Amino acid sequence: MEITGRTQVLAVVGNPVRHSLSPRIHNFLSEKLGLDYVYTAFEPDGMDEVLSAVKALGIRGINVTAPFKYKALELVDVVSDNARLAGSVNTVVNSGGILTGYSTDGEGLYMSMELAGFEIRNKRILVLGAGGAAKPVCVMLKNRGASLVAVKNRTVSRAEKLCSDLNGSMGTDIFKVYETAECFDIIINTTSVGMGSNETPLEDSSLLEGICGAVDLIYYPEKTTFLKDAEKHGARVLNGLGMLVFQGILAYEHFTGVKVPSKLYGEVLKKVNE
Ligand code: ATR
Repeated sequence: MEITGRTQVLAVVGNPVRHSLSPRIHNFLSEKLGLDYVYTAFEPDGMDEVLSAVKALGIRGINVTAPFKYKALELVDVVSDNARLAGSVNTVVNSGGILTGYSTDGEGLYMSMELAGFEIRNKRILVLGAGGAAKPVCVMLKNRGASLVAVKNRTVSRAEKLCSDLNGSMGTDIFKVYETAECFDIIINTTSVGMGSNETPLEDSSLLEGICGAVDLIYYPEKTTFLKDAEKHGARVLNGLGMLVFQGILAYEHFTGVKVPSKLYGEVLKKVNE
């Protein structure tokens, strides 16, 4: 695809961001779909001036990653319902100078889980962690029909706040702070424990007995100790690479207004694995 003066610009903004796989995902989609976009990465020190630069330069859209996802929520002109509930913005679309913030993380995880054969409806789910990554996951679990979402966190007060915020904002009572070793169908790790190491966020492996699925938002290493342990207990396991790909595909659809055909999903997943 030739880049010309008419090519529209997209980018991921974070710090650090040079390792990001997002340019690979988005540029691959543009190439496959024959759309005139180029996607790069910016690594600013702060977010304050970024959104005015997006407007001033007519950049069509940005993905926002750590540590700017929360700041972006405050800075956009319009916040989608999903981003408000999720408490963060990972996608900003510039429509004629009006910036709208979306969160595609939760639905990205949903699509990845669906493709891998995980059922969420009527399932009892344990979420490990109560930080920024946990919130969009919890929102998605409620929207997709989970019957119970228990949150287990090192700092219990954070889990309490997450549950009471979401029960309030989503008008439900399915979010509960984890108390005792109940039985769960699926366990999802949203903490950073196990990233690039062999640590596990689940010190009590008896919780793995009887589960049918385990999901880790981490994708490096490809199979964390948590997933290996879950697999030993007979669970279906899934790492975070699919979530990364699908949050990107959903963002791309917001940027371009074009629906990415599902037959491309496998190719994009293959591309990021290269
Ligand atoms: P993120 O945006 O990635 O969720 P975060 O908001 O800093 O980042 O949250 C990190 C999550 O990982 C939190 O749930 C954190 O637990 P605390 O709330 O107790 O800090 C969890 N976490 C990080 N390091 C941990 C560790 N060594 N042991 C247990 N939990 C840990």
